[in-house]
Amino acid sequence: MSTAQLAILGGAANFSDPLPVGQLYFPEWSAYETAMRGIFERQYYTNQGPLTQQLELVLQERLGVRHAICVTNATIGLLMAADALELSGRVITPSFSFVATSQSLTWAGLEPLFCDVDPLTHQLDPQKVALLLDDDRVSAILAVNLWGDVCDHRALSSLAKQRGVPLYYDSAHAFGCELEGRAVGSIGTVEVFSFHATKVLSAAEGGCVCTNDDELAARLRNIRSSYGAGRLVSVSRTANGRMSEAQAAIALLSLEAFPGIIERNQEIYAEYKEGLEGVPGLRLLEPRLASVTNYQYVVCEVDAEQFGLNRDQLQTVLRAENILARRYFYPGIHRCPPYIEMFPAVSEHLPVTEALCGKVLQLPIGQLVDPQAARNIASLIRLARECAAKIRAVLEGQA
Ligand SMILES: Cc1ncc(COP(=O)(O)O)c(C=O)c1O
Repeated sequence: MSTAQLAILGGAANFSDPLPVGQLYFPEWSAYETAMRGIFERQYYTNQGPLTQQLELVLQERLGVRHAICVTNATIGLLMAADALELSGRVITPSFSFVATSQSLTWAGLEPLFCDVDPLTHQLDPQKVALLLDDDRVSAILAVNLWGDVCDHRALSSLAKQRGVPLYYDSAHAFGCELEGRAVGSIGTVEVFSFHATKVLSAAEGGCVCTNDDELAARLRNIRSSYGAGRLVSVSRTANGRMSEAQAAIALLSLEAFPGIIERNQEIYAEYKEGLEGVPGLRLLEPRLASVTNYQYVVCEVDAEQFGLNRDQLQTVLRAENILARRYFYPGIHRCPPYIEMFPAVSEHLPVTEALCGKVLQLPIGQLVDPQAARNIASLIRLARECAAKIRAVLEGQA
């Protein structure tokens, strides 16, 4: 490749169609049509229909968990979890996550107590959690199993046990992952998956709340709605968290395709890994604690000094090529409303989160990417580093 091939330097974009970072699984049309025909024939759209029930059974079996409770999306699942756990006061949680993690607490009338993350893994840092547990208003730890990796569960659960509070997980990124031979979903007091279109298992929109605790499950089912509530138990309030039959149909098809999806992701990831090996100033994250990963995201850290471009400049270079690399998560949740007004000084206690929000970039993976595209993207990133001075001059001229 020559410098002229970089679109930012005047070449044509290397990809004619935009490449997003998310998974975007679409079933074969004929399979989708058959599934939808079934829904029409049964004349049954929602209210814990046969496909939703089937999906719950399949998920329970697959994850080795007593209860898999399907819901509209992970955000509502997290909110239901906070209510079912009957929490109060403050919940320790990372600011380095998608805003829904903390928003679920706010909607449940709780206050997030933001905790910093580990610089290597980006997961919640148990040592920092330990310091926050002195706060007697803390009623739980809500950790996030991020990027297809998992948290240091041993350390976190021992802290939670000592303090007598539940440890529950936002596992939106971790469907299909394992920790020491156990499926994510069966580990925390409660775990919540997202089946959003951009996730490895897709229901277009959807999610699932998992637990091994029968009492919690009964509360969760009652909070979800009166349909599929099972045993009636008293809860302080209810929601509409139902999954529709159309969502369940797509999730069931996505589950059938799941082994192929993961295999392909693995090939794409391997191309990135080989192609980006040794590029100064660029660190590709690798799962460190998960014994099995799902390759949900390809996450890089850009060190501006060594790479020659900062993260935002590299993103601009890639976007000019139709590579829709994303700054995810940016900004940190603590800098989003309402938290920025609630905790104006909290960033001082989140140095790792602050640094990561300035250097993390996600590269495309999923159904619209193939191994050859990953190889090309890695070559373009290498080229961008070689041409960093010219690119900076162009970008500074545009500013
Ligand atoms: C870490 C995390 N938690 C929660 C969510 C919310 O998931 P949903 O869109 O299913 O509500 C997301 C979505 O991207 C996420 O990344």
